[in-house]
Amino acid sequence: MTSRHDGRAQHPAFARIMFVVALALGASSAFARDVETIRQYQFERAASGYRIVLKEVPRPVTGVGEVLVRVRAASLNRRDLNMLRTDYAENSGYAGGIPLSDGAGEVIAVGEGVTAFKVGDRVAGVFFEQWIAGAGSEEALLSDRGGNAGGMLSEVIVTHETGLVPIPAHLSYEEAATLPCAALTAWVGLFKRGHIAPGQYVLLEGTGGVSVFGLIFSSVAGAKPIITSSRDSNLQRALEMGAIGTANYRSNPDWHLKVKEISGGHGVDQVLDVGGRDTLDKALQILAYGGHIALIGGLSGYGSELPTDAIMWINATASGVYVGSREDFMAMNALISEHKIRPLIDRVFEFEQAPDAFEYMASGDFMGKIVIRL
Ligand SMILES: NC(=O)c1ccc[n+]([C@@H]2O[C@H](COP(=O)([O-])OP(=O)(O)OC[C@H]3O[C@@H](n4cnc5c(N)ncnc54)[C@H](OP(=O)(O)O)[C@@H]3O)[C@@H](O)[C@H]2O)c1
Repeated sequence: MTSRHDGRAQHPAFARIMFVVALALGASSAFARDVETIRQYQFERAASGYRIVLKEVPRPVTGVGEVLVRVRAASLNRRDLNMLRTDYAENSGYAGGIPLSDGAGEVIAVGEGVTAFKVGDRVAGVFFEQWIAGAGSEEALLSDRGGNAGGMLSEVIVTHETGLVPIPAHLSYEEAATLPCAALTAWVGLFKRGHIAPGQYVLLEGTGGVSVFGLIFSSVAGAKPIITSSRDSNLQRALEMGAIGTANYRSNPDWHLKVKEISGGHGVDQVLDVGGRDTLDKALQILAYGGHIALIGGLSGYGSELPTDAIMWINATASGVYVGSREDFMAMNALISEHKIRPLIDRVFEFEQAPDAFEYMASGDFMGKIVIRL
C-alpha cells in the first residue's frame, strides 16, 4: 500500500457523547433519557447538486438479522463524485442519505437471528445491500449503498447480515475499504465474464480505481496488461506494477494503434471499457478475435454506438457489468487472499477532511484509490 498522506493524526475517540434530554412533566416529576450519538455525513442540497455535511445522529440499533458495524475506513468512486453534481443529482432524492458505497470496519453488535457474523469480525459492505447471488433482481439493484441505500461515511452503520462479507486477513481496513465497487467491477469483467487466461492482452483505460485493479488482477492471472493514462508519471508507475506497455491517450490521439503495436499486432483479448464515448470505438477497433469487452463506464460520457457487426465478425463478446453480487465479492476475496493482493491507495484522508477527499478526486491528480479513515 502507498500513501501520500501518512499522518495518522489524532483519531478522535469514538464519539460517545451522552445527551441528557430532560422533559419536565409537571411540577413534581421529570423524565430523563440518554441518547447515544454518532457522527455521519449526509447529502444536503446545494445550489447545484449536493454537498456533504457532518451531522450528529442517534446511534443506530440492530433489528432481527441485522449487524452494527463500526466503520473504520471508506473509499471514493467516480460515482460518489458524480452524485454531488447536477447531472446525477437531477430529480434524485439523496438528501439526508449517507454517502459512499464502499467501506470496511468491525462488527460491534449483532441482532437476533444473525448467524454469519459475531462481534469483532472484520467486514466490508457489499455494494448492493440486497444482491446476494445470481443475476440480481430490480429490487436488489436498487439497494446500492451510498445512493438508494445508506452509505458507509458514518461512524456506525446498521445493515442486514447478507449485506456484508468478511475481509481478507492480510488487508488493513483502509485497503479492504477499496474493494466493494472498483475491485469487484474489474474482477467480474475479467474473471467472471471475460474468463481471462494467461498470456492474454488486456487493455485498461486510465489509472483510476477500476483500471488499476484491472492491472493488478491481470498480472496475477498471468495476462499481459497494457494501460493508458493522461499522465506519464502514472504510466511509469503502472510499468513498475506489471504493465507490459503503456500509451498516453492525451498526447497520442491514436493511442489504440500504439496498444495494438505493443501486442505485436494481435490486438487485445480483454478490455475494461471505463471511458465510454471516447474509448469504446477505439477499443473495439483493436479487439482480438474471440475477445471480450466489459462495458463499465462513461468517463467521457455514455452513448457510443456499438458496431454489432464488428463484434460479430471476430466472434467477440460484449457484456454489461454493474459491479457484482455478494457471491462474486466472496469469490474475489478468495483470489485476493490466495495471492495476497494489495490495492493501490493514493492517499488517505481523515474523517473530518472528507469534503477534501472529494475535491482531491475532482482534481484528477491521483492513481488508484482515495480513502477516508474513520
Ligand atoms: N458499471 C459499473 O459497475 C461501474 C463500477 C465502477 C465504476 N464505473 C464507472 O467506470 C468509470 C471509472 O470509474 P472509477 O471509479 O474507476 O474512476 P476514477 O477512479 O475516478 O478514475 C478516473 C480516471 O480515469 C481516467 N480517465 C478519465 N477520462 C478518461 C478518458 N476519456 N479515457 C480514458 N481514461 C480516462 C483518468 O486517468 P488518468 O489520470 O490516468 O488519465 C482518471 O483519473 C466511471 O465512469 C464510473 O462511473 C462503473
